[in-house]
Amino acid sequence: MITRVLEKQLIEVGKVQGTLERIYDAVASKGDLSFPQALLLYALVRELQPDLIIELGRGMGNSTAVFAQALDDAQNGKLVSFCLYENWQQTTEPRLRKFLPEEWFERIQLFTEDLTQFDFGPLADSAETVVVFWDAHGFDIAEHVLGHLLPLIASKRHVVLCHDIADRHFVSPESRLYGDKRLWRGMEACYENPDDFNDLWTDWAVTKVDQALPIFDFCRRNGIELHSVDREFRRDLASAEALLERLSLSVQSTFVLAYFDLSEATDELTFPPDLLRRHAG
Ligand SMILES: C[S@@+](CC[C@H](N)C(=O)[O-])C[C@H]1O[C@@H](n2cnc3c(N)ncnc32)[C@H](O)[C@@H]1O
Repeated sequence: MITRVLEKQLIEVGKVQGTLERIYDAVASKGDLSFPQALLLYALVRELQPDLIIELGRGMGNSTAVFAQALDDAQNGKLVSFCLYENWQQTTEPRLRKFLPEEWFERIQLFTEDLTQFDFGPLADSAETVVVFWDAHGFDIAEHVLGHLLPLIASKRHVVLCHDIADRHFVSPESRLYGDKRLWRGMEACYENPDDFNDLWTDWAVTKVDQALPIFDFCRRNGIELHSVDREFRRDLASAEALLERLSLSVQSTFVLAYFDLSEATDELTFPPDLLRRHAG
C-alpha cells in the first residue's frame, strides 16, 4: 500500500524534488534519514493528506523538514514533533529560514520533552487522519506508543511508520553471518559498540532498535501484519527500478521502513496498559 504512494505521487514529488534536496542538504544529517526515505515520507503525506502527523524523534530534523514541506504544499494539516533536544531550534531552523518563507514553519508544533510523559489525548481527539512516524527508540517509548497513543487513534484513519527496521531480503548477504560479533543484546550495546554486537534478526526484520520486538508482539497479538516497505515495493511494483530511475535514485535503493495499520485487524483489539493514565489515577 505505502509503496504505491510514490508511484501515485510521482508528479508531485518530481515538482518538489529540487526543494527537498536543498532542504536535505541544509539539515546536513544524512545518516538519520536517507533521501529515498525522505521522498517516500513526502509522497505518503501528499497521498494520505493527514490532518495530524506525529513525529516521534526529531533529531536534526530531516523528517521534520520533509513533513513540513509536504504539509505546506498540501496547505493542510499540522506536524507535532518530539525530541529531547533543541537541535532543530538551534541549528536547523536558522539554516532553513535563510531560504524558506515564514509560513513554511507555521504548521510545525515543536515539543522538546520526554514523549513518554506526553498526553496525546487532546491532539488525537480532534484529528481524523493520523500519520505516526516512529523514530525514537526503546522499550519505554514502545510502551507509551502502543499502550497510550495507539488506543487513541485506533478508530481513526492512521498509519504507523517505523524507522530503522530493515528487511532481511534486502541487506547484504554477509550481514547474516555472526562473524566475531556477539549476540544482539539490546540497542544500547549495538549503538555503543557496533563492531562488537550483531543486529537482531527476527521474522523478516533486521534491526538494532529495541522497539522492534514489542512492535512485532503487538502486531501478532492483534492479527495484523508488520509490513516491510522494501518487500512491498519490490513485490507490488513490477516497475520498481524504473520508478527509482525516474526519481534519479539508485536502483539499489532501499527504504528500511516498516509500517502497520490497526484497521487490518479482524479480532477485538488488545493494547498494553496505558502507564500514563495508571500513574495519574
Ligand atoms: C534518530 S533521531 C531522529 C531523526 C529524525 N527523525 C530525522 O529524520 O532526522 C532520534 C531522536 O529521538 C529523540 N528521543 C529519544 N527518546 C526520546 C523521548 N523519550 N522523548 C522525546 N524524544 C526522544 C532523541 O532526542 C533523538 O534526537
